Amino acid sequence: MPEPLDIAPANGKLGVLTPGLGAVSSTFIAGVLQARATGKPPLGSVSQMAHIRLGKREQGRSPLIRDFAPLAKLDDLVFGGWDPISANALEAARACGVLEEKDIAAVSAEMEGIIAMDAVFDPIWVSRLDGTRVKSETNKWDQAMALMADIEKFRVENNCDRMVMVWCGSTEAYQQPSEVHESIEAFEAGMKANDDNISPSQIYVYAALQSGVPFANGAPNLSTDLACMIQLSEKLGVPIAGKDFKTGQTLMKTLIAPGLKARMLGLRGWFSTNILGNRDGEVLDAPENFKTKEESKLGVLHTILQPDTYPDLYGNIDHVVRINYYPPRGDNKEGWDAIDIFGWMGYPMQIKVDFLCRDSILAAPIVLDLALFMDLASRAGQSGVQEWLSFYLKAPQAAGELPPEQDLFIQQTKLKNTLREWMGEEPVTHSEAG
Ligand SMILES: NC(=O)c1ccc[n+]([C@@H]2O[C@H](COP(=O)([O-])OP(=O)(O)OC[C@H]3O[C@@H](n4cnc5c(N)ncnc54)[C@H](O)[C@@H]3O)[C@@H](O)[C@H]2O)c1
Repeated sequence: MPEPLDIAPANGKLGVLTPGLGAVSSTFIAGVLQARATGKPPLGSVSQMAHIRLGKREQGRSPLIRDFAPLAKLDDLVFGGWDPISANALEAARACGVLEEKDIAAVSAEMEGIIAMDAVFDPIWVSRLDGTRVKSETNKWDQAMALMADIEKFRVENNCDRMVMVWCGSTEAYQQPSEVHESIEAFEAGMKANDDNISPSQIYVYAALQSGVPFANGAPNLSTDLACMIQLSEKLGVPIAGKDFKTGQTLMKTLIAPGLKARMLGLRGWFSTNILGNRDGEVLDAPENFKTKEESKLGVLHTILQPDTYPDLYGNIDHVVRINYYPPRGDNKEGWDAIDIFGWMGYPMQIKVDFLCRDSILAAPIVLDLALFMDLASRAGQSGVQEWLSFYLKAPQAAGELPPEQDLFIQQTKLKNTLREWMGEEPVTHSEAG
C-alpha cells in the first residue's frame, strides 16, 4: 500500500469566491443551497454522487468519494463574488433565466445576501459588457491590493477557515502571453506600470495566490496558465487549475472521439455549430472573445486522436467550430455536430449529434467539484498545476512539458487514482488480475 498523504482535516467554513456572478455561478450557488435545504442529491457532481472502487473487485469496497476523501461538507460552504453588473446572486439568477422561479424562490433570501463586490473590470477585454460596479482604483497593482483586501474582509466577516476561487467571469479577448507574463517580478512591475497586456482575470489570480487561495479558471482566457502564475503558485505553495469548464459540445466531443479511436475508426471532418442566447453568447459574439473560445475548443481532437501517431486515420481532419449568438434560446444552447468518419476499406459514414443542453446546468456541478477538490489539494500540501482535475476542463493545463490528456475516460482514471494514491490506496489498473 502507498503511504497516505498527511491531509489536514476540513474543519470550519470554506469560502467559495467567484469572480463573475452570472449564469454559471448563480446556478451553482442556488443548487448547493437547494441541496442543503432539501437533502436532494446534487445531480452531476462527481465529488458528491460518484463511488470509487478500492482494492480488488472481490473486496466489494466502493464508498462515495465524499465519504472516502476528507472533502468540505456542503453545509460548510459560504459564497461570495465580484461582478461589474449583477448586484447580488439573486438578481443574477433572475436575470440569466436559467432556473425557474419556484427553485429560486425557495433560496431567495440567502441568494440576495450574496452581494457582489465591485469588480476589477476593463471593457477593453469584454467589449460587449457595460460594467458599472467597478473598483475606483485605476492602477493594476492597486487593484490587486484592493482584491486582496476584499478577500481578507470576506474571510473575517464569514469566519472562513479556508477559501478557494473559481473564475466564472466572462471570457476575455484573445491574447498570447507576452514578456510581462514571463516571471513574477515582470508581472508585478507590469501591474505597477499598468501594462496593457495584463487583463483583469490575471489580477484576480495574482490576488488569490498572494492570499493563499487556490484558483481554478473556468473560462478559456489566459490566467493560471501564464509562466508567472505557475511560478507564483509553486513558490507560495498554492494549487491552480485551468482552463474552461468542459460542458456541452466539447464534453460530447471528448466522449465520442476516444470511442472512435478505441475502435480505429478514421475521422475526416468534424463540424460543430452552436446557437446560444445568454450573456456568455453575447460576449462571445465579439470576434476577439470568440477567438479565445475557439482556440480552447479546437485543441481537443488533436490531443485525443494523435494524428502524428495515426496518420492514416487522423492525418487529414477538417475541424470547424462556430458559435452564433441567438437571443431566443437564452441559456438553452443547441449544438449540432456533423461528424464524417470512415471505416473498413475507407468507406465513409456519418454521425449527427443534436445536443439541446443547458449550459449552466452542466457547468454548476463542475464549479462545486473544482472548489472542493482544490481545497482538498491545498490541505494535502499540493501546489502548482493540478493536472488530475483536467477531467473538468476543456483546455487542461499540463503540469510538465508533456501535452495534457483530453480523453474524458483517461482523465477520470487519473482523478480517481490520484484520490486513491493520496489516501494510501493502490491504483486500480483494470487488468485481468485487478
Ligand atoms: N456555461 C458553460 O457551460 C460554460 C462552459 C465553459 C466555460 N464557461 C465560461 O464561464 C464563464 C461564465 O459563464 P456564464 O454563462 O456564467 O456567463 P455570464 O455572462 O452569465 O456571467 C459572467 C459574469 O462575469 C461578469 N464579469 C465580466 N468581467 C468580469 C470581471 N472582470 N470581474 C468580475 N466579473 C466579471 C459579467 O458581468 C457576468 O455577470 C464564461 O467565461 C464562459 O465562457 C461557461
